[in-house]
Amino acid sequence: MSKVKSVRVGLVGCGIIAQWQHLPALSHIGEAEIAAICDRDRSLLASVGKKFKIAKCYDDLGELLSKEKLDVLDICTPPQTHAALSIKAAESGCHILVEKPAGLTLEEFGRMAEACARNKVKLCQVHNMMYEPVMLRAISQVKSGDIGTVMGVEIRVLSRRTAELSKDPKHWTRGLPAGVFSEGLPHPIYLAQAFLGAVEPVAVHVRDISRHRNVASDEIWVVLEGEGGTGVITYSGNSPKDKMIMNVHGTSKSLRIDLWNSVKTEYAIGGTSLYGRAMENLKQSFSILTCSAGTALDVVTGRFHSGHFNIIRGFIQSVRNGTEMPVTIEQAREVIRVLEIITRLVQVKPGP
Ligand SMILES: NC(=O)c1ccc[n+]([C@@H]2O[C@H](COP(=O)([O-])OP(=O)(O)OC[C@H]3O[C@@H](n4cnc5c(N)ncnc54)[C@H](O)[C@@H]3O)[C@@H](O)[C@H]2O)c1
Repeated sequence: MSKVKSVRVGLVGCGIIAQWQHLPALSHIGEAEIAAICDRDRSLLASVGKKFKIAKCYDDLGELLSKEKLDVLDICTPPQTHAALSIKAAESGCHILVEKPAGLTLEEFGRMAEACARNKVKLCQVHNMMYEPVMLRAISQVKSGDIGTVMGVEIRVLSRRTAELSKDPKHWTRGLPAGVFSEGLPHPIYLAQAFLGAVEPVAVHVRDISRHRNVASDEIWVVLEGEGGTGVITYSGNSPKDKMIMNVHGTSKSLRIDLWNSVKTEYAIGGTSLYGRAMENLKQSFSILTCSAGTALDVVTGRFHSGHFNIIRGFIQSVRNGTEMPVTIEQAREVIRVLEIITRLVQVKPGP
């Protein structure tokens, strides 16, 4: 029996997202083999190598690339380093999966894409929320025409991250063009684009509600005008809880997608009578119960896969089979273009 060749993956940046999502996903994807990892923090590198049973550990990406024959480099370092590391890996002939935002500016992303095209390797930005099971179900429901024509979306992101990171004034998010917003906004931008098509930011409002005085702004509202309707993004980087909720409004009904709890409900379906409203409540309660039971069953039986797992597996398969990537270069470029406009509108002042 012929043995299926696995895709040899190297990972650089062994911090939070690598340990929380990328390394667990790669360890469970049959077609992938973690060939080596890299982090410039040697003690972290050693502990992550031990935790995930990876023998080849390097504190310098150049050395890793010269010693290991990789098919893919998975980049999980801070965004400020993505361009240099991606270009170096592309020159070594590696396909690249890179965490969002892939580049800090359109110009930087253009250089990354050009290096990948010249070396005939793929470049894929991680849009994990698009691949959450509940989002995949919502997208297919909307595509089927079940909610009518999409008229608009609202996306609310609550994150504890700023509050936590602001304890460290040297944290890398502080050096991003729009601070923590550069880190948090890519998700709601690509989600809005998925339902509205091309979008343009037309208004931005920022507010500082931080209890930590070294953060200049920690809440943002963004209004997007899209081909398929209007989008409103609210991002709070200083919430006591983590949550991401999206409302998609169609001409016949609306969807509420709770990405955190993996629950999708329908509303504006019950009419105006008291009976209709009561029925809508019952239907929503039933949806919450069935979604929760379905997710729980999938988790227990090992069938539940996070958005990260799904997109990483999709990229590995696209490398192995020479098929289309889960996120195209154009889709990634559009996220960075919109982020760049928002950054100009925000004019975030650095914290004192
Ligand atoms: N998709 C998501 O849901 C999600 C969630 C969190 C973070 N992220 C993204 O993942 C990336 C990393 O975020 P994080 O929170 O894991 O960061 P982190 O600070 O926890 O980890 C980054 C690691 O990279 C290492 N590093 C930095 N420069 C390096 C270099 N030149 N060579 C080798 N190692 C280097 C650091 O030592 C650190 O260990 C960011 O782009 C962030 O936006 C995505």
